[in-house]
Amino acid sequence: PDGGGKSTQARLLVEHLAARGLPAVLTREPGGTSIGDQIRRTLMDLGNTGMYPRTEILLFSASRAQIVHEVIRPRLEAGAVVVCDRFYDSTLAYQGYGHGLDLTALRAITDFATGGLRPDLTFLIDLPAEDGLRRRRRGGQWNRLDAYDLAFHQRVRQGYFDLAAAEPDRWVTVDATRPVDAVQSEIRRVVEARLERDR
Ligand code: TMP
Repeated sequence: PDGGGKSTQARLLVEHLAARGLPAVLTREPGGTSIGDQIRRTLMDLGNTGMYPRTEILLFSASRAQIVHEVIRPRLEAGAVVVCDRFYDSTLAYQGYGHGLDLTALRAITDFATGGLRPDLTFLIDLPAEDGLRRRRRGGQWNRLDAYDLAFHQRVRQGYFDLAAAEPDRWVTVDATRPVDAVQSEIRRVVEARLERDR
């Protein structure tokens, strides 16, 4: 969800992996490519209040298709560890659970965008919706999606819980109400264990 500090955590993780000599790449969505950044501006623009939820899905998916093609697949094929600051679960949580759109249709659109690529490991950097929105407001990063009401953000959080429960091997939930370094240490421990296991 928003405001949990996931971008900071993702950056610190990539720095850690790089320091260990692993080729590591950080991506973010929406955006992360020249075309994706243009799509991001349209999605985040507070003036675009009339955006239809189906348009929103297709724009997020368009940005994702581009980054999978341009960055994620090539880097994985070159042997890198790719750390994504958001991926398709955000579409399921925000557009699916938040807007109440059909999850089966969303999965089909998502699979089309990613070509079926799935993460090995996914972190839910969790905190109550009210806390997340408060942090965003304070950080001056308010955008069109933050401006959806609290009930929307609470549905998003519940959606993440459901997604995590459905695939417990892929998901790890981390309590983001703790200090940044405590959260980062836990993430690193989990990643290290997974790298060791899959070596
Ligand atoms: P962020 O870059 O600060 O995480 O902001 C991205 C916003 O877009 C955030 O509110 C979550 C939202 N989002 C979706 O609604 N669907 C998506 O598929 C993605 C990637 C993000």
